[in-house]
Amino acid sequence: MAGEIKVAPSLLAADMGDLRRAVAEVERAGADYLHLDVMDGAFVPNISFGAGVIKALRRESRLFFDAHLMVEEPGRYLEDFAAAGADLITVHYEACRHLHRVIQQIKGLGLKAGVALNPATPVTMLEDILPEVDMVLLMSVNPGFGGQSYIPETTEKIARLAEMLKARGLALDIEVDGGITAENAAVPARAGANVLVSGTGVFGRADYAAAIAAIRQSAAAR
Ligand code: DX5
Ligand code: ZN
Repeated sequence: MAGEIKVAPSLLAADMGDLRRAVAEVERAGADYLHLDVMDGAFVPNISFGAGVIKALRRESRLFFDAHLMVEEPGRYLEDFAAAGADLITVHYEACRHLHRVIQQIKGLGLKAGVALNPATPVTMLEDILPEVDMVLLMSVNPGFGGQSYIPETTEKIARLAEMLKARGLALDIEVDGGITAENAAVPARAGANVLVSGTGVFGRADYAAAIAAIRQSAAAR
């Protein structure tokens, strides 16, 4: 349901040598989504993991798999990620020459579709695709690496997107990604974001359940 607060730990900050355990632990700790950051070393200056890893983790978990593709022309890989068990695929506006087609392809595979914007891309670019998507992801850092600081200008951008959705009578999820911790989660939530990604803010803490609960509580108190 759009509007409901969801916490999405990003596996990018987990122990890459023991992903199976990381997934089981955040599932037990109350994560709503598992955020899966796929990087191709071309769209972003880093390489993470692909559909094979997601497929292996799918066998271990019942969590909602939120795949964030930071990949050039992601239309080439949608079937792979669908077969791997993604529940939602988010593609970057900046990485798709034919975004509308890519969104239709994701939905045609029976999945939820999201579109992501880099910090420098204005939300007005989404005007004509909003009715087609289930979620908008606003990057609050430049994609490529975990552990960066939340870019303060994102807050106003979230508010502008929330206004656009309201004016159109659309109830989409707004996901915010990058530099979110229990200490600042209320800021994007107050502006209208309801899906909060957190990598180091969960996996960098000793107690995952406490970190997830604290993010949820500070966001819900918006
Ligand atoms: C950045 C990724 C984010 C990031 C979040 O490219 O899309 O999901 O890993 O990590 P933190 O919460 O550490 O900024
Ligand atoms: Zn991400």
